[in-house]
Amino acid sequence: TRTMESDLRPTLFDFHGVSMTKYFTENWENVQNFQARPDDILIATYPKAGTTWISYILDLLYFEQKSERETIVPIYERVPFLEISIPSQPKGKDLADKLTTSPRLIKTHFPVQFVPKSFWEQKSRMICVMRNAKDLAVSYFHFNRMNHVQPEAGDWSVSHGSPCTVVSTVVFGSWYDHVNGWWEKKSTYSNLLVLFYEDLVEDPGRELDKLCHFLGLSPSSEKKERILSSAHFDNMKQNKMANYSTLPVMDQKVSPFMRKGKVGDWKNHFTVAQSEVFDEDYERKMKNSSVKFRDEI
Ligand code: A3P
Repeated sequence: TRTMESDLRPTLFDFHGVSMTKYFTENWENVQNFQARPDDILIATYPKAGTTWISYILDLLYFEQKSERETIVPIYERVPFLEISIPSQPKGKDLADKLTTSPRLIKTHFPVQFVPKSFWEQKSRMICVMRNAKDLAVSYFHFNRMNHVQPEAGDWSVSHGSPCTVVSTVVFGSWYDHVNGWWEKKSTYSNLLVLFYEDLVEDPGRELDKLCHFLGLSPSSEKKERILSSAHFDNMKQNKMANYSTLPVMDQKVSPFMRKGKVGDWKNHFTVAQSEVFDEDYERKMKNSSVKFRDEI
C-alpha cells in the first residue's frame, strides 16, 4: 500500500481551536465513539515528547515473552495511534478495535479535551510523557522535514521567532495548551501518570519503577534490566520494529526518526536571539502554570 502524491504535505487548519490536518480529524466520529475498557492504557503525549519510547517500554513490560511480536510487529501496530486516518493505511481506531491483548496499549496525541469520553467513564489508565519545549521544537522541526504526511517544516532560521511557531502552529495545536491541559487533569483524574522525558533520560531505572508502581506491576530485576537495555536509544535506533524504518512516508535519509535522543540538543539549533524570543514567549504563556520543565540535565 502506497500513499498517493496528492495526500502528501497536508495543510493545517483550525479544528475546535486546535491546529490539525485531515489525517487526525477525518475519522472523528468513529474515534469519539471508541469503546474503551477499564484495563486499557492510553499513552497520551504531544508529538515528539517520547511517545515511541514509553510505548516500547510498556509493550515490553506486558508482552516481552511473545517472541513473534518482538520480531515482526512494528510498534505502530502493537500500539495503535487512535486518531490516525491516512488513505491506504489502516485506521488507528480499527487497529485498536482489533487488538486482542490485555491490556490494550493505545496512543493518542489529542489534547485532553479531545479524548473519547469512554476512556474517562471506564477510568482507563493514562500515561502522559512531557518534554521541554525547546528540545521538542527541534525534534518536531526535523520530524516535519522527514515525514511527508506532515505539513512542510518551513525554515528554522527564517525569522528569530520561528522556533516559537514550531510549538504553537503545528499538528495537535499549541504545546502550551497541550501540556497545561493534561497537567491540570491530574488533579481530578487519579488514573493519570505524568512522566518527563528529561527524567527518563536522567534515570530510566527510577522512572521504570515509577511506571511499575502506577501499574501495580513488580517485574524481577532481571526483567527490568532487559527492558532498559532493549529500550535504550541505541538499541531502539537499530530495531526495525521500533525505529519506523518500515513506514515509507518517512524519509529517514532526511532525518532519522531516532534522531538524537538527548536533552539540551536545542543549544545546537537555537541562536542566542532565537532563544531570547522563545524564552519571552514561554514566560508569558506559562506564567499561570505549575508544570516545570528542565531543558538541560
Ligand atoms: P529527537 O528527535 O530529539 O532525537 P515521539 O516518539 O514522541 O515522536 O518522540 C521522538 C523523540 O524521542 C525523538 O527525539 C527520538 O529520538 C526520541 N526517542 C525515541 N526513543 C528514545 C529512547 N529510547 N531514548 C531517548 N530518546 C528516544
